Amino acid sequence: MLAKLKFNGAPVLVTGGGQGIGKAAADALAELGAHVIIAERNENTLEAATADIRSRGGTCDFYTLDVSDEQAVNRVAQDIEAKFGTLKALVNNAGNNFRTPLHELSTEKWQEIRGVNLDAVFYMCRAFIPLLLKAQNPSIVNVASSFGVIGNPLMPVYCATKGAVVNLSRQLAIDYGPKGLRVNSLCPGPTRSPRVQGYIDKGLTDPKKLEAQVMLNRLATCDEIGDVAAFLASDAASFMNGSTVVVDGGQTIN
Ligand SMILES: NC(=O)c1ccc[n+]([C@@H]2O[C@H](COP(=O)([O-])OP(=O)(O)OC[C@H]3O[C@@H](n4cnc5c(N)ncnc54)[C@H](O)[C@@H]3O)[C@@H](O)[C@H]2O)c1
Repeated sequence: MLAKLKFNGAPVLVTGGGQGIGKAAADALAELGAHVIIAERNENTLEAATADIRSRGGTCDFYTLDVSDEQAVNRVAQDIEAKFGTLKALVNNAGNNFRTPLHELSTEKWQEIRGVNLDAVFYMCRAFIPLLLKAQNPSIVNVASSFGVIGNPLMPVYCATKGAVVNLSRQLAIDYGPKGLRVNSLCPGPTRSPRVQGYIDKGLTDPKKLEAQVMLNRLATCDEIGDVAAFLASDAASFMNGSTVVVDGGQTIN
């Protein structure tokens, strides 16, 4: 089992890996011996995350990338193909949220959130599937949300796009499973990432209400989600394909 968790220097790409769940996934993958490639739009966190992984002995490359920019995604894919020729795993983690009732949601905001949560998953998968198909036992981990399997107040575009990511992952698992590429979605429950902590600090989110939804009575740490992303990307999850992996402390069972 331990040997199957090891990446032996194979390249793995994590989007939005500058902070939060993406950084935790990048950390876990680096610890397991992957050559981590972080694609992130925030240059400051991107550089800090890369330096942090390298300082602990991991190997890491980085790209400043807005994953909702189709052409930029294609350019990064060409560059990674030229450098590595292949990609062992892709973790589509970058995402965002916007809270409002649907009748007050602007078309611009709908398109912006859809761009990062859903369109980007399409762009990334399309650009990188050819490289993944050249790797041994490749996989895609699409980070959706517990709100991709249940509804939540004031999150129409988030719930819609995360639900779409869950079912797109199932669909891709059907098309590419026979070719050896596994595709799974990972659905975190409430997690104390910098974004969520920011909502709490600004009084936009009441942590007690979130904790009350979770049967473990607390929010997840980013590591608790990132570790599962690394497992799903690894050969230890070799029979997982098309799964919706809910990691929510018992939020959605109640
Ligand atoms: N934190 C939670 O409670 C929670 C719960 C369920 C699902 N998720 C999902 O997990 C993922 C990570 O969330 P988080 O809470 O760690 O968020 P976060 O905001 O703390 O981190 C997200 C990272 O993605 C980057 N990013 C955002 N848009 C980008 C873009 N267009 N291109 C490239 N990078 C971009 C950000 O700069 C940031 O570094 C998201 O997809 C989110 O929807 C989070």
